[in-house]
Amino acid sequence: MVSFFFTLQFAFLAVTGVHASTKPTNLATISTSGALSALLYTNVGGSGSYKQVTNMIPGTWPSCTAQPSCIQQTKQVSGPLAPFDDEITLVFRGPMDIYNIAVYNASDASATSWTKTSSWGSGGKPSNLVFMNNKGGGASGMWSICGGSSQSYANSAFSDAAASPQTPQGSIPVGEEMNIMTSTACSSSSPCSGFSRGTANHGWAQSKMFVLEFDMPSTTSSSQPPAIWALNAQVVRAAQYGCNCRGMGSPGGCGELDILENLPSPANVNQGISEIYSFKGATGTGNGNYFPRPTNGKVIYGVIFDVKTDQIAIQRWTSWDWTTTQVSRSLVDGYLGATAKVVSFGSTTKRRSHRGRMNLGGM
Ligand SMILES: *[C@@H]1O[C@H](CO)[C@@H](O)[C@H](O)[C@H]1NC(C)=O
Repeated sequence: MVSFFFTLQFAFLAVTGVHASTKPTNLATISTSGALSALLYTNVGGSGSYKQVTNMIPGTWPSCTAQPSCIQQTKQVSGPLAPFDDEITLVFRGPMDIYNIAVYNASDASATSWTKTSSWGSGGKPSNLVFMNNKGGGASGMWSICGGSSQSYANSAFSDAAASPQTPQGSIPVGEEMNIMTSTACSSSSPCSGFSRGTANHGWAQSKMFVLEFDMPSTTSSSQPPAIWALNAQVVRAAQYGCNCRGMGSPGGCGELDILENLPSPANVNQGISEIYSFKGATGTGNGNYFPRPTNGKVIYGVIFDVKTDQIAIQRWTSWDWTTTQVSRSLVDGYLGATAKVVSFGSTTKRRSHRGRMNLGGM
């Protein structure tokens, strides 16, 4: 009997080309409705277009009317994960304490392992990772009276701009926003896609996995709850809340993933919802499902953008070895294959009914 089943399984693997995946040992207790432990977006990519910003003309005070001022060109994209295969930045809004960040990537869908390319631990010097915010014009970046602020290096308190990249402790005040980029600046020898101005760096392209350790303490203010979201890096290099390539469905969006977004009162400020936006439309965790806001101590989340399987996974993990430099493809497959609430981006029906459009500035 043993050899019969062994032979059968071997034949199955040979026929389907499926490779065994490594079962992860650090998944939080699985829950796929209500308070979620894991969410899997399938059928993420597609063929479509968005309006890429190619120039920003600031105009002249006081009217600020340059006509047109936000110059955009239709950009066609297609393929697995598109447009999330483009360079991504993660944005964090306080109140939040971040303790660790690690980013693993693979340029090629057939890579047998993903390599740590960026990392940072509280109080330490970041490696290939720069903390930025939208406060350009003073210490770094640029500002114009009609075009507003570009990106800037964030100061270590995440409350203002600094002249150079900082080594913060990781606490983000209520209402302040910070985003991460690689340490490679956009330049003529390393050009960035789309328009950029001021302090502008590259994000993480193709397949990538972000591992994050953080908490989101409660506050008395229920109008400014914390959030973590991913954006096409072009959005922040132009203007996160102005001239950018955001959008949803026609006329197209260049990609936004709300990872854990607590919405202000009258929504439940302790429920972190997830939604995904692109030229295909939008979908998400829907009514009643959410990631619990970690108000009592730190949590670890893994967020995997996988070109090979055209999927995005958001999962709570119980631990992570921050010294890990390589993650095998078979372990990535193990995470992607773990039990999760599955939301197909083939349909666009699962948004929260009371969802505002607070993150979709510039549409
Ligand atoms: C990972 O990202 C970095 C940019 O931070 C890039 O230089 C490198 O080529 C990428 N590695 C792979 C394997 O794609």
